[in-house]
Amino acid sequence: MAVDLLLGLQWGDEGKGKIVDVLTKNYDVIARFQGGPNAGHTLEFDGIKHVLHTIPSGIFHDNAINLVGNGVVIDPVIFKKELDNLAKFDLDYKSKLLISRKAHLILPTHRLLDAASEASKGKAKIGSTLKGIGPTYMDKTGRNGIRVGDLEMDNWEEKYRALANKHQAMIDFYKAEIEFDLAEMEAQFFEAIEVLKELTFIDSEEYLFQAQKEGKSILAEGAQGSLLDIDFGTYPYVTSSNTTAAGACTGLGVAPSRIKEVFGIFKAYTTRVGSGPFPTELFDSYGETMGRVGREFGATTGRPRRCGWLDLVALKYAVQVNGVTQLMMMKGDVLSGFDKLKICTAYKYKGEDIAHLPYNIERENVQPVYTELKGWKEDLTTMRDPSEFPQELNDYIDFLEKELEVPIKIVSVGPDRTQTIHR
Ligand code: GDP
Ligand code: IMO
Ligand code: MG
Repeated sequence: MAVDLLLGLQWGDEGKGKIVDVLTKNYDVIARFQGGPNAGHTLEFDGIKHVLHTIPSGIFHDNAINLVGNGVVIDPVIFKKELDNLAKFDLDYKSKLLISRKAHLILPTHRLLDAASEASKGKAKIGSTLKGIGPTYMDKTGRNGIRVGDLEMDNWEEKYRALANKHQAMIDFYKAEIEFDLAEMEAQFFEAIEVLKELTFIDSEEYLFQAQKEGKSILAEGAQGSLLDIDFGTYPYVTSSNTTAAGACTGLGVAPSRIKEVFGIFKAYTTRVGSGPFPTELFDSYGETMGRVGREFGATTGRPRRCGWLDLVALKYAVQVNGVTQLMMMKGDVLSGFDKLKICTAYKYKGEDIAHLPYNIERENVQPVYTELKGWKEDLTTMRDPSEFPQELNDYIDFLEKELEVPIKIVSVGPDRTQTIHR
């Protein structure tokens, strides 16, 4: 059977976790393909909010195996915390959580390198979550990394020590003023490694290959968003992995010809956390309302998210790069009560209106050109069927479908599992 993909089309936090949880009942395997604990995926049901960082968002269902793929980077300390949280809910995760031997490990010194690198950049800092993501992927592509499979070898601690020593010299090079207690960080790390070792490590590409042969259905879960992609995002203000559709092939070992549906998730407006260009960013009461009503605070770092109008130029680009076949619009409820809604349909760039994303989208280069639609007053959060939608919301959806040329199949009207409307 084919593999479906689910990924974010903006700068992350689109609501991927919620939708993976909603869709899991239709799948046998949920597989995370990239990123690490820089992600924060929120699920809400039965009045409880769960935030997952590395563990796939299908973990609360009994029918599915949850796989952490080779493209993911794992911090054992954060992973252990996630497991401890699951244990509180009496969840038998051991029988349904698998980890790829080829996934790379985030070491304590990777986190320190992240902090030192950011501190040295001053105003030009990326606004990283400081989880060690960049340095870990650097060691992966530099062919120095330590992988989950290494934990099954006798000499892995020697490899660890050699790499950590090299990192310490690199940290010294930055001369950054960061405070840390490496001995304490390492103690936590080695304790967490023992917990990780109790889980099942597998050759995940082979597992997924067999699962496909047996007719099992697989959903690949992305992290971050398309505009944070290392190649196609707003470089250098991006993360260090391929967040777009191709990342699922390399991050899981699934052949491109096996991919069927590509579910693209976007918010009805735009948010971004961390630094970097954001053409439709708002600094007025509309932006303030989005942030307040949408509770726009990072699920990993708690930082306030920057808010702005929906950017169709950027969204179209993401739809194209990913080959999106179905769209899901999140957080429409947050826009209830807005007297007007603006959608950026072009950029003014070097005196001309352009409808594609140019190389540089810094504010001084591009000014958004907006189309204005009427807002709706109705509260959407109690609605459960598209027939209840106000006309203005239908107009908003129709406008987007026409522009993007892809159907919007799900409209989400609140954080809870039940606040999900299929069209
Ligand atoms: P992810 O990283 O893509 O999984 O998204 P996050 O969990 O970081 O951020 C999405 C936030 O919006 C979470 O707090 C969700 O509970 C919440 N959320 C998801 N869908 C909706 C929705 O339709 N309406 C509202 N109001 N909140 C939503
Ligand atoms: P989810 O999966 C939103 C952002 C950071 C920073 C940049 C680089 O929850 O959507 P990194 O820690 O990777 O070095 O940070 O990317 N970022 C995210 N923003 N959601 C995320 O994940 C993010 N993961 C990283 O804020 O700007
Ligand atoms: Mg998030």
